[in-house]
Amino acid sequence: MTGSSPLNDQSVSLRPMGPVTEASTAKALLALIRNPLDALPPAVFTEPLVFSKTAGRVSIYISDPALIQEALVKNADVLGKGDQVRRALGPALGSGLLTADGAHWKWQRQSVASAFRPSSLTELQPAMLAAARQTSDRLLKQQGETVDIGHEMMKTTFDIIVETMMSGGHGIDVNRVERSITDYLRPSGWTFALGVVGAPDWTPYPGRRRATKAVEFLRSSLSSVLEECRRSPSDRHDLVSMLIAATDPETERKMTDEEIIDNLMTFITAGHETTALGLAWTFDLLARHPEYEARVAAEIDEVTQGGEVRPEHIAELHYTRQVFSEAMRLYPPAPIITRTALKDFKLGDYLVPEGTVMFVPIYAVHHHAAIWSAPETFDPDRFRPDATKARHRYAYMPFGAGPRICIGNAFAVMEAVAVLAVILQKLRLRTAGNTPEPLMKVTLRPRTSLKMTVVAA
Ligand code: HEM
Repeated sequence: MTGSSPLNDQSVSLRPMGPVTEASTAKALLALIRNPLDALPPAVFTEPLVFSKTAGRVSIYISDPALIQEALVKNADVLGKGDQVRRALGPALGSGLLTADGAHWKWQRQSVASAFRPSSLTELQPAMLAAARQTSDRLLKQQGETVDIGHEMMKTTFDIIVETMMSGGHGIDVNRVERSITDYLRPSGWTFALGVVGAPDWTPYPGRRRATKAVEFLRSSLSSVLEECRRSPSDRHDLVSMLIAATDPETERKMTDEEIIDNLMTFITAGHETTALGLAWTFDLLARHPEYEARVAAEIDEVTQGGEVRPEHIAELHYTRQVFSEAMRLYPPAPIITRTALKDFKLGDYLVPEGTVMFVPIYAVHHHAAIWSAPETFDPDRFRPDATKARHRYAYMPFGAGPRICIGNAFAVMEAVAVLAVILQKLRLRTAGNTPEPLMKVTLRPRTSLKMTVVAA
């Protein structure tokens, strides 16, 4: 990389950096609106670090695992979520755990951490299996018919998140929640594009009114859950009761209702849509690779000895977990992480100036030519323990890295393995046609719904 620092002349890079790729602004904005994955500079799939200029501003794309570690783990304190995240998610999630920074983030994380300890998660396994069984029973009644597997998985993971974390959800309308999340996320490309050109927050864009209505519905549903929990507190020590009880150690204040709802919104969206998408992509991949599907089925048979899947089986389903990991490599449900430098900091040989926007394009890291052999091939053996050990820890990071790593990562994997085991024990899903293009709407969805035919195992 050559040339003088493209970021800021005073930043005196420790080593001269460049070249800066410069996309046509109009083209980049159109790509962002259509599918932010298409707006990634192509070099992010082959280079460790890419400097790219759009609308006069240079951003950094970090694809190298060691540099990702340096940024997200070692320099986590000097990175904030930044304007991009605030614009895209702030209207829905306020300043909850996913969107907050600094001390406000820290006390929220500490307040709910115990719900995600291994001992607490183990207690949730029966609820995960019960929701999976309901889905499996529903699908068994539709043998020979075509189902939208994305929708089926959304329903399953939604049932799990409200049952395990939100006192059962007190009758929230799952179909309307799913539609509302889609309505909210649909115009997210516009919020990214308007952020890039520095347009004011109030700038209208297509789909904005519908997105606002969707947020109103979601927040008012969660406000009812909160009211119900306050009215008739249960003895469950779940997320809602933790949020109600939380106290900021610095100010000793409690969360306002608005702040509790910010967090319920965060957990209901981050906590079910991502896992559902990972599962839907997994079913599509298995249907296209019968040899791996047969290995999963054989493992389930062996572990359960032909009986019902029980909580203690989940940790033993190692190959099933490998399959889910490989599906999330190819289709990471959260495909791009964004940060903004709150101060100048050193990254590799460069000095990154305050205010620089950085992207960790997880999707590109997972498809990177220098990290993976045959990156486009589905091969669950990449996640055998020896193969995993031989790779850099941050070569694979569907859940992010550092202190902001997904708090629900172990929950999600446990849930996904439970759902795969229960369903694949009883039935198979078959697909016709090509796999739809992955489309980023904050999360990574199939551009058209994944229609699959249900057949008996
Ligand atoms: C396969 C499923 C999932 C994937 C791929 C995923 C991915 C991620 C990623 C990449 C981040 C980090 C974002 C960043 O650094 O900017 C994150 C954060 C987060 N996730 Fe997940 N997630 C999943 C499931 C879940 C579940 C099940 C829950 C809750 C039950 C959850 C709750 C959260 C929360 C609250 C944060 C913010 C954490 C913080 O900033 O302290 N996620 N997730």
